[in-house]
Amino acid sequence: MKKDMKKATKFAHIGRPKIGVSTSVNLPITRSSTLLFAKAADLYNDDLRLYGRHGSPVSDALEEAFCELENGAGCTLTSSGLAANTLSIQAFTKAGDHILVSDSSYGGTRYFCDNYLSKFGVDIEYFKPNIGKGIAGLIRHNTSCILLESPGSLTLEINDLPAIVEYARKHKITTIVDNTWSAGLVYNPLELGADVATHAATKYYSGHSDVMGGAIVARTKLHANKVRLTAKALGNCVSQDDVYQLLRGFRSVVTRFNQQAETAVQLAKWLAKRPEVQDVRHPALPSHPDHKIWKRDFSGAGCIFSFVLNPCSEKRVLNFLDRLKLFGKGFSFGGYESVIIHCDPQLRRNFDPEFGGPLIRIGCGLEDVDDLQNDLQVSLEKTKFSD
Ligand SMILES: Cc1ncc(COP(=O)(O)O)c(C=O)c1O
Repeated sequence: MKKDMKKATKFAHIGRPKIGVSTSVNLPITRSSTLLFAKAADLYNDDLRLYGRHGSPVSDALEEAFCELENGAGCTLTSSGLAANTLSIQAFTKAGDHILVSDSSYGGTRYFCDNYLSKFGVDIEYFKPNIGKGIAGLIRHNTSCILLESPGSLTLEINDLPAIVEYARKHKITTIVDNTWSAGLVYNPLELGADVATHAATKYYSGHSDVMGGAIVARTKLHANKVRLTAKALGNCVSQDDVYQLLRGFRSVVTRFNQQAETAVQLAKWLAKRPEVQDVRHPALPSHPDHKIWKRDFSGAGCIFSFVLNPCSEKRVLNFLDRLKLFGKGFSFGGYESVIIHCDPQLRRNFDPEFGGPLIRIGCGLEDVDDLQNDLQVSLEKTKFSD
């Protein structure tokens, strides 16, 4: 791929079959456990793919696409986005280590750290997402890994990655960034110095809410190899049917992402003017506390944002959500359909974000923005928050 090509062009062409005669546009799915070799000498040749668990030509193509996306040296695919995070952490952590985790990291990742990793004698410390250079004060002799997510889940804080990387590099600490929100299209943590970027491909790369998957992209061959060996040890394996679907998602992701992101900005701006709404948490809005860092490090925004309603009963919040006709009440995002959740039940933090009202998260789909806005308006007005 030519370096100066735009991402949409690259993703339309990457990993396609070599054209012969009557060649299909897409690579075929190969479902395998056993792989056969003409020569016995090849059975133990580690340079070859020896077994179905180690992927197929379609997963090679998807890995190549993720490397192109993040400008990485190697990619490992996983069965889910959560598995991408847990596998990366395991690749760079051992018993007796101390790891630092951004307090607004995805709930599933927190659960893994608190309930699983801790069993192996790893000391987990959460830090305020906006800590920036203050990370220096938390680094210990045994800190092995810093886990970031920018913007953070539900509350959308932006980590100052360059400031954190500066100290991490000095102390040879691995930085892992969950880059799901940006799909890798508008934020490149590896180019900002991080060692590993992870993705819940379940979101934008599936794009249709029907496939789960994850990807771990490493900045150097050394990091990529550590991840690959950990994946091998853990028996990591991804369904080739799912891999095929995720590669298909790559072909159209730029167009879908841009439209969904545009819808999110429009709805965020509109909600910010509503009397029922106290605050809107969207990093592209100048009112967002980390807007300046977002502007410096990102080239665009994703499809999810949150907003805070004026203080009201839980019953009102549930009424508001139940009245919506176009927003599905469900977790995840990045699909063609818009989704909404109330976040308070999920907010498990060491540092209380203190919103002063119920927090709602929206994931914008591909519906027309006017219809989505109208749906929100009708529901806000009918819910009568003020009585
Ligand atoms: C930021 C982030 N990372 C990781 C995950 C986990 O992805 P998956 O659902 O594919 O396990 C999610 C899921 O919502 C997420 O929002």
